[in-house]
Amino acid sequence: MEDRVISPEAGVEDIGLDVSLRPLSLDEFVGQRRLVENLRVFIEAARARGESLDHCLFYGPPGLGKTTLAHVIAKELGVQVRGTSGPALERAGDLAAILTNLEDRDVLFIDEIHRLNPSVEETLYPAMEDFQLDLVIGQGAGARTVKLDLPHFTLVGATTRTGLLTSPLRDRFGITARLHFYDREELLEIILRSANLLGIEVSPSGAEEIARRARGTPRVANRLLKRVRDFAQVEGQGVITQRVAKEALDRLDVDDMGLETMDRMILKAIIERFDGGPVGVETISAVVNEQKDTIEEVYEPYLMQCGLIRRTPRGRVATARAYRHLGFSRPEVGQSRLFDEEG
Ligand SMILES: Nc1ncnc2c1ncn2[C@@H]1O[C@H](COP(=O)(O)OP(=O)(O)O)[C@@H](O)[C@H]1O
Ligand SMILES: [Mg+2]
Repeated sequence: MEDRVISPEAGVEDIGLDVSLRPLSLDEFVGQRRLVENLRVFIEAARARGESLDHCLFYGPPGLGKTTLAHVIAKELGVQVRGTSGPALERAGDLAAILTNLEDRDVLFIDEIHRLNPSVEETLYPAMEDFQLDLVIGQGAGARTVKLDLPHFTLVGATTRTGLLTSPLRDRFGITARLHFYDREELLEIILRSANLLGIEVSPSGAEEIARRARGTPRVANRLLKRVRDFAQVEGQGVITQRVAKEALDRLDVDDMGLETMDRMILKAIIERFDGGPVGVETISAVVNEQKDTIEEVYEPYLMQCGLIRRTPRGRVATARAYRHLGFSRPEVGQSRLFDEEG
């Protein structure tokens, strides 16, 4: 896959950046106000009772702070966090090994929790509900199940879409929250904070330019900041001004709405090849040569947030705003012939 500057998914280069810029406490965590305030109450109550926090499920597009929140929660609870992911837990034994090594009130973070293999998921149910592990000992007719008590841990699960979770799993979370895209002020705050941490000089208008094009996503904001700094160093005076930011972002193919090449390809496909839709996501996927899941989880949420596409029962439709944004004139019934240049 080509290196996409705006992709909200974490690439190799982001891992270090994500960790070094990750807010450590709820106070440092920008935005998602309602969720943060609720968590504050739940955490304080759990601490006061000396109990583990209810299991939490966070969902939303990549780069919005799910992993960060898992770490922040552990920090606020004053406990350790153990991180893993759905695909990494291949067998029930992998999960058992992790669970038995936790301490009371610890946080277990499972990323991409919708990708758990069914036998692992079934092991998780009694662990979440009763803090018990059902171990099968022996084989065949002599096999028996032993119940093992587990520490009272908190599971924090993250997924891009709750719809991908089985309902028995979903029902076992006490706290379920969707993360929303960040507004411009919140992104600005994140960019200024990151610039400060990384020792990057950025003017207020330069930071605003980046915030405007950061796709409502903190991970993208941080990545753009780093990339724009390179331009500022090589072609400016080392300071990110609005002009430097604008030029750099134009050259990185990030437009003023924060759309990147793939976003525009998706919109163009709907407009040019399917007369604005409706068209099914499978068809779009084939035309733009990108996985259907990635389109649904990464690209569409932002395109919908921007009001550029709509989901209808018959497929995706490009809105009038999408036509305008890409510089297409929208064929109106009865008018298209009047404006037909070839005619
Ligand atoms: N609310 C926030 N405030 C400040 N920075 C944030 C926030 N949310 C995310 N970030 C930044 O974005 C990066 C990516 O967030 P992450 O939690 O890894 O997203 P997700 O797990 O949802 O894909 C973090 O490392 C952090 O630097
Ligand atoms: Mg994550």
